[in-house]
Amino acid sequence: MPKPKVLATHPLFAPARKLLDAQFEVEYWQDPGRPSRDVLLKRVAGKDALVCLLTEKVDDELLAAAPKLRIAANVAVGFDNIDVSACTRRKVAATNTPGVLDETTADFTWTLLMAIARRLREGEQLARSGQWPGWNLDQLCGADVWGKTLGLLGFGRIGRAVARRAGGFKMRVIYHDAVRAPEDSEKKYNVTFVPMDQILAEADFLSVHVPLLPETRHLLSTVQFAKMKKTAFVINTSRGPVVDEAALVAALEAREIAGAALDVYENEPKIHPGLVQRNDVILAPHIASASIETRTMMAVMAAENVLALFGGKRPPNILNPEILS
Ligand code: GLV
Repeated sequence: MPKPKVLATHPLFAPARKLLDAQFEVEYWQDPGRPSRDVLLKRVAGKDALVCLLTEKVDDELLAAAPKLRIAANVAVGFDNIDVSACTRRKVAATNTPGVLDETTADFTWTLLMAIARRLREGEQLARSGQWPGWNLDQLCGADVWGKTLGLLGFGRIGRAVARRAGGFKMRVIYHDAVRAPEDSEKKYNVTFVPMDQILAEADFLSVHVPLLPETRHLLSTVQFAKMKKTAFVINTSRGPVVDEAALVAALEAREIAGAALDVYENEPKIHPGLVQRNDVILAPHIASASIETRTMMAVMAAENVLALFGGKRPPNILNPEILS
């Protein structure tokens, strides 16, 4: 019996390849860059499964180009690149990789938060410049982190992992979410639910942890920045379009907030030029989950979803289980 054919749009990591290679005929995308749309549509034709990254749009056009496709396994927790309804209509399973990246993403949220508060980018530049005149009392004074108020927009798995770390900094943690967490979770993480206007008014650090949905697009825009403290910082490790970049640049320019630390952007890999120029901004290239351990686990998880489906089992991270019945 011929083996089912898989297109993986990345060479993945050895443990994931080992799982896939044992059962499938796998074509791995080997070039260092991402496949263009045209190439992707050609390569996916005739495949039974797709293992893809968040840079690939899995939509009706792609599904039409791959009529044999049974699964699109995203190597990411966010799945705004996948039209799940289109997958469901065509009885294609869609899967993601929840859970394994929560702690790593929370670590990086704190990396950004502390770096922007303590002006690490400017300090690093000065230290390397050969122009450092030596210690001085008022040199590169930033903002304290400890004892401040952390606002979490979104209190899912990643928001909670970020909240847990705040205890070590003696911070007060408030959150806002479309759905309030059960009381025992609020107690466990020592967090208080507040309305949107209150989190905007009170957070010294406002960190975004919501998925990208029509309701969360530009959740932070002109009106919201105007309600924030002038000393507040915004941190975004979720999805770029949740923050209105043009409005953020305007708010920074008008000194309505003190700074921002971003890992994600509205039109990746493009970054608003107004952000790139600024000293009160830290920019990372979408690497919040990028530890070798976590990215390997994500790839393995995607492979396991494919294996489960072809083994007649329910893929553990299926987003549209209704296609199985
Ligand atoms: C990364 O951004 C992910 O969604 O896994």
